[in-house]
Amino acid sequence: MNQSPMFKTYEYVQDPYSFYDEIRSMNTIYRGNFLRYPGWYVTGYEEASLILKDIRFQNRVPIPETTQKYEILKNVQKQMMLYKNPPDHNRIRKFVRESFTPKALKQLIPMIEETAHDLFQNVTSQKKMNVISEFAFPLASLVIANMLGVPEKDKGLFREWALTLIQSIDLTRSRESLAKGNETIIAMVAYFKELIQKRKQDLKDDLISLLLSEDQNGDRLTDEELLSTCILLVIAGHETTVNLISNSVYCLLTHPSVYQKLKETPLLLESAIEEFLRYESPTQMTARIASENVKINQTEINKGDHVYVFIGAANRDPKHFINANVLDITRNPNPHLSFGTGIHFCLGATLAKIEAQVVIRTVLENTKMIHLETSEVEWRNLTGFRALKELPIIMT
Ligand code: HEM
Repeated sequence: MNQSPMFKTYEYVQDPYSFYDEIRSMNTIYRGNFLRYPGWYVTGYEEASLILKDIRFQNRVPIPETTQKYEILKNVQKQMMLYKNPPDHNRIRKFVRESFTPKALKQLIPMIEETAHDLFQNVTSQKKMNVISEFAFPLASLVIANMLGVPEKDKGLFREWALTLIQSIDLTRSRESLAKGNETIIAMVAYFKELIQKRKQDLKDDLISLLLSEDQNGDRLTDEELLSTCILLVIAGHETTVNLISNSVYCLLTHPSVYQKLKETPLLLESAIEEFLRYESPTQMTARIASENVKINQTEINKGDHVYVFIGAANRDPKHFINANVLDITRNPNPHLSFGTGIHFCLGATLAKIEAQVVIRTVLENTKMIHLETSEVEWRNLTGFRALKELPIIMT
């Protein structure tokens, strides 16, 4: 196994794309040992897509079976559809799917627009805004809290929970972040147990009530599955959506001509969001484990091998995208892998895109130009996600 000398977490986090280019130039499926995690590092689009679609590559909870610590965190993760494989995976997913159809999500648009408008009004007189804490997080929190049926007063809890849990599943995790993740899960379990109990006694028109019901075959989620699903939706509904919003605004800040073009041609907004997703993918990496020996193109992957699929690299594979390192909001087609592919394709993809479109439209309609308030930005210390620490902007 190689321990490549060029890999330094800080540099990777600030600019993952140079690292991807270097790895890809050696091999699109490269056997390495970065960050103390030995396995196959996949940077080619074709290979990434084949692996994500092949159910012989399975999802698994990122905490080793042998670890006794962080037991609660591990047990909750084990029941999440994200870490389930067929046939259990489909069983859980079909309960949630109904609430995420484009038709169901369309009904949320007026609420999302109103929230975005109100949040913008709160900051508009100052002509300054911290995009993450004043716009993206409050919006994403409110939307997912609304869907789940969480009381208004509690939605503030979600931010800290999401931040801590993302840190505990990322490859950069430490004993401290796992311990914190475990504590957070204990708090979330207590919170959702109480809420679920209330809904059992008094069903409402929300996602938790829907998840408590039987399907047409008389099947139900177990209490553990329901708890884990709520927790997964809180994390998934926050982190990546917040990052899509802030990365999109960041793209506008770093490409003023794109800001102007979108102002002149608002019809390009939909394809612009697809391109922001490709260019600065909120999810940069997802992992799998081979359940048997598998050959991908010329590479033999053995049963038990870990595979790290770098979505952010696949999305910039020059063999698949013309001018892959150029932000082109008219790119068409744009088959990026930012929401994954195959059976685990993101359930929240349409919702995330609606939220991002509403935010970017609100910004474009209410500003003449936007500027970064600091000289440079800092990215959070994560390898699986592309997440800005803060994004303070000045609006004219
Ligand atoms: C820009 C925002 C988002 C991005 C980039 C994103 C990305 C992804 C990716 C890459 C996966 C597949 C992971 C894998 O194959 O290992 C995934 C799965 C998932 N996402 Fe998202 N996501 C986003 C927003 C959301 C939102 C808003 C929700 C829900 C409110 C959500 C819920 C889920 C769920 C439940 C899964 C698991 C699906 C399954 O295992 O069948 N996501 N997401």
